[in-house]
Amino acid sequence: MVRLIAFLIGLFMSGWLLVSAGITTYGMITDPAKETVEAKFHKHPKHVSFKHDGLFGKYDKQQLQRGFKVFTEVCSACHSAKLVSFRDLSALGYSEDEVKAIAKGWKTEVPSINPDTGEAATRPGIAADKIPSPYANDTAARAANNNALPPDLSLITKARHNGPAYVYSLLTGYQPVPANLPKENRPGTGLHYNPYFANLNLAMAEPLTADGQVTYDDGTKATKDQMAKDVAAFLTWTAEPKMNARKAAGWVSLIFLLIFTGLTYLSYRTIWADKKKH
Ligand code: HEC
Repeated sequence: MVRLIAFLIGLFMSGWLLVSAGITTYGMITDPAKETVEAKFHKHPKHVSFKHDGLFGKYDKQQLQRGFKVFTEVCSACHSAKLVSFRDLSALGYSEDEVKAIAKGWKTEVPSINPDTGEAATRPGIAADKIPSPYANDTAARAANNNALPPDLSLITKARHNGPAYVYSLLTGYQPVPANLPKENRPGTGLHYNPYFANLNLAMAEPLTADGQVTYDDGTKATKDQMAKDVAAFLTWTAEPKMNARKAAGWVSLIFLLIFTGLTYLSYRTIWADKKKH
């Protein structure tokens, strides 16, 4: 009896599930969810390739230096890169003296304390300092940017899907507002239309506006496109400075495993050689 009741309850439950699945499917087919404006106008990052892509790709130090120059001269007016110390920049090929000079000459000084009075003060950067924010704190940063906070860029290429291509697309993606964009999605004051940004309007004005905005030391032509690509490469490095080593270690492990597999097979043959004869 108990079994029969349990069976009937089970049957009822499964039937219920089936019916509701059917109703939901029917509803999804006859009355599909409306496409949001964001989904309609939003674009996926453009396709862009870097020397450091792929299994064998390594950072192009020249490109990272160019990207750092764009960051220094343009982006660092609003953004910090607090996870990067000046001395880390030696990985881009700068000498110790160059690193010291970069730290000392940075446009914002580092917060410190006056040793005589104990009052808050600032001092020029040293190689061990992190790349400082141009603002004293988030409140000051918002005040200067129409209440939007420019995020720290150290990890931005990891924080966004397809990060390097996203940064590149965002920087080169500013465009006139499409005529058919609904009124409530049009950029308000202080906002700028950019279809690569998730909600289509962002508070950052187009930072790279003209070819030659930065003068490259290696003779590369500083087109808008080139600068966007270089700074995206630099921000890939800030988010993953050890990528070259990671890839190399991956290959060494693979080769080791291959050799190890061969050895294991040979020892298997040796161990069972006797038995297999019979
Ligand atoms: C005048 C100040 C200013 C400059 C210069 C500037 N930015 Fe921004 N940036 C902002 C602000 C403000 C935001 C926040 C935008 C928002 O939340 O709507 C932002 C946001 C961003 C974002 C985040 C977008 C997201 O998905 O959340 C990235 C990436 C970025 N900036 C990259 C750069 C790069 C690279 C440069 C240099 C080429 C640069 N910015 C120069 C002010 C600036």
